[in-house]
Amino acid sequence: MTKPFYVTTPIYYVNDRPHIGHAYTTVLADVLHRAHRLFGDESYFLTGTDEHGQKVEQAARKAGMDPQAHCDLYSGRFKDAWVALGVSYDQFIRTTDAAHKAFVREQIQRLFDAGDIYEKEYEGWYSTGEERFFTEKELVDGKDPISHRPVELIREKNYFFRMSKYQAWLIGHIEANPAFILPEFRRNEVLGFLRQPLADLCISRPKARLAWGIPLPFDENYVAYVWVDALLNYWSAVKDRKWKDGSAAWPATVHLIGKDILTTHCVYWTTILRALGAPQPEHILAHGWWMKDGQRMSKTTGNVVDPIEMAGKFGADVFRYYLMRDMVVGQDGDFTDAGFAATHNADLANDLGNLFSRTHKLVEQHFAGAAPAPARGSEADRAIVDALGALFPAVEEDFRAFRVDAGIKKVIAHIRELNRYIDAAAPWRLAKTDLAATGTVLYHILDGLRAAATLLSPVMPVKMAKLLELLGIPGAPKGDWQRAGAYPVGVRLAPVESLFPKIELAAAEIPAPAAAQPAPPAAVKAAASEDGLVTVDEFFRTKLVSAKILAAEPVEGTDKLVKLSVDAGEATPRTVVAGIRLHYAPEALVGRQIVLVANLAPRKLKGIESRGMLLCAKMKTEAGEKLVLIAPESDAAPGSPVG
Ligand code: MSP
Repeated sequence: MTKPFYVTTPIYYVNDRPHIGHAYTTVLADVLHRAHRLFGDESYFLTGTDEHGQKVEQAARKAGMDPQAHCDLYSGRFKDAWVALGVSYDQFIRTTDAAHKAFVREQIQRLFDAGDIYEKEYEGWYSTGEERFFTEKELVDGKDPISHRPVELIREKNYFFRMSKYQAWLIGHIEANPAFILPEFRRNEVLGFLRQPLADLCISRPKARLAWGIPLPFDENYVAYVWVDALLNYWSAVKDRKWKDGSAAWPATVHLIGKDILTTHCVYWTTILRALGAPQPEHILAHGWWMKDGQRMSKTTGNVVDPIEMAGKFGADVFRYYLMRDMVVGQDGDFTDAGFAATHNADLANDLGNLFSRTHKLVEQHFAGAAPAPARGSEADRAIVDALGALFPAVEEDFRAFRVDAGIKKVIAHIRELNRYIDAAAPWRLAKTDLAATGTVLYHILDGLRAAATLLSPVMPVKMAKLLELLGIPGAPKGDWQRAGAYPVGVRLAPVESLFPKIELAAAEIPAPAAAQPAPPAAVKAAASEDGLVTVDEFFRTKLVSAKILAAEPVEGTDKLVKLSVDAGEATPRTVVAGIRLHYAPEALVGRQIVLVANLAPRKLKGIESRGMLLCAKMKTEAGEKLVLIAPESDAAPGSPVG
């Protein structure tokens, strides 16, 4: 029995658009989640938005919006970003959800009843930027030491949590659990912080100053401090959730956070949980910050990397790969356009992509496109089999220990080894004299490619599903797949396709084109029909609706068709047969939004009645025609008319 895995990201403030920092943590969580599922664990992935507090209230006011409407808008932007980046969370919590608000009030009442909350007149330097008080000593040049913004002296009655009471316990807990705070240098940082006496935590804000929050259950003139409200999300989201074995989903296996929110998580959150008698998370893992060209990203400098733009320009998987491969978990990373293109071209286009296309060609030429059987082989053959056997447990161990970058590098190192192996064995020459030996070499390479596609599938779910499909073994890995030699002999490879077209450096520097939208039918503007033009009425005879793919499976006896079950907002889902399998693996289609031609006369394809057609853009690429799905830019309810 494997252990269930519960991973969280910070919940993001709804005063900003999703940026690379948000994208990094969320993709990291997604990769860990997918990896645990791949290795057979039950896994649960929570993300969401942090919607109360002064920053949000101010951002809403600035935009002239009601705070809730502002939260709805920005929260939606995060959800859209995660769709664009292929993030497969299980739950998206919003701190304005009624259930969360009720849970927060309940827990604060429990702290109060236990005598862990008291009221006190307090005077301190308040920073709006950081939404907290600082002591005179903590100020730097009279300004807030974190955001360096002005502070104001405020005197007011507030409620305090007896955090100091748990200081000794916390030190003991961190010392007894070396992997509680990761990486180790962050653990030492927290222990260093705890060498000073720990102050109690102000957990209230007077409503007169801040109305946008959760009212305290025992004094409605106050709202809860936004961090207390926010931290409780990790527990409130799963308070009633059970794993399959009946045990409670709380506590979390790991909270992924950025290094700037270490104290709130390692000190505030842990002591609150302790006071509530709740179990502690197993790990709190702080990652570093992304810089751009060696500098801190900021809107003022204009050097911010936009994750949605990157995914739109190069594809989500390729961007995810760079984020995961280039940042050592825990350290800071530096994003450069040249680095992005270089990593992509070296690892994916050259090492992985070329190995696949070379091997594919040889299998076509000498084995009619079907995987040959391996013979016992030479020493070099046996060495490659042993290396592959060792790769599976090593990568699994890395992923389980959060060393995603290290796991990826091991897979790519194996691919490089396979490239050396094929160069040394030279099957293109060997085939002239020894077909059995040629087949052995090609089999081991196909087996290595299978392993790479599977092990990298948490990082690049769509591209690797495609590679597995091209290898003739679509879908989730089956049986004891973590074994060298699990590639099925005789399986037919699908027609070759270029998986990772090279990124030319200039392209990485060219500003992004507008998101791929279907070109507005210019003709629609014309009132009357001229040569080749249609009228508005003619155009709208075609009923286009937004729809969602619920299920997808290959159609037997063809490599082009997929049978889809599509929610078009009707009483029952429709069956649509689409000729896009060479471009999308069936499982990569599930959950996608599409534009459906809804009033097309039904027709039978391979004996299946298809009711509708989905829209794609047809692009010419070096490798031939490529189809890309056309979809609404953000979630549109199935059945919404497109026009
Ligand atoms: N709302 C709080 C978290 C509450 S969790 C109970 C918050 N939100 S945030 O939207 O401001 O930041 C979210 C995360 O983004 C933080 O973990 C922060 O470290 C991370 N990043 C912000 N900029 C970053 C980079 N440039 N690079 C990497 N991560 C960075 O804090």
